[in-house]
Amino acid sequence: MTPEQLVEQAKEAMTHAYVPYSGYQVGAALLCADGTVYCGCNIENAAYSPTNCAERTAFFKAVYDGHRNFSAIAVCGGKDGVIKGAFPPCGVCRQVMREFCSEDFLVYLVNDTGYETVTLGELLPHSFSAGEHMI
Ligand code: THU
Repeated sequence: MTPEQLVEQAKEAMTHAYVPYSGYQVGAALLCADGTVYCGCNIENAAYSPTNCAERTAFFKAVYDGHRNFSAIAVCGGKDGVIKGAFPPCGVCRQVMREFCSEDFLVYLVNDTGYETVTLGELLPHSFSAGEHMI
């Protein structure tokens, strides 16, 4: 699975978004350590706060199926499904990633010309994690 292939899966995942309120379609493709890929989209709600982001949809699907080790995630998004700039993960999603991933976890931020690679440590510096702070 190349980064480019993961990016393509994130773009396909965008088309699954349920976004009657914002119109922003977001897609994520999460690569597990064993090579399995889980895709997610954002799923909005009339009460707004129950909305689930694309990244968390992908993580929760994977964790439900028993995965705990992850290598990378590709994320893309845009109004009406049109990708312009990068659509970086929100703070809640960054913290969910940190629950299962170390700071070297790779995040591919998709834009209109390709993608930019950042680490979870760059997105969430000085992070709180269960393994390091609760034992
Ligand atoms: N959204 C995501 O899916 N992922 C993020 O990390 C940022 C925000 C969604 C939530 C909402 O449906 C839409 O983007 C606009 O905020």
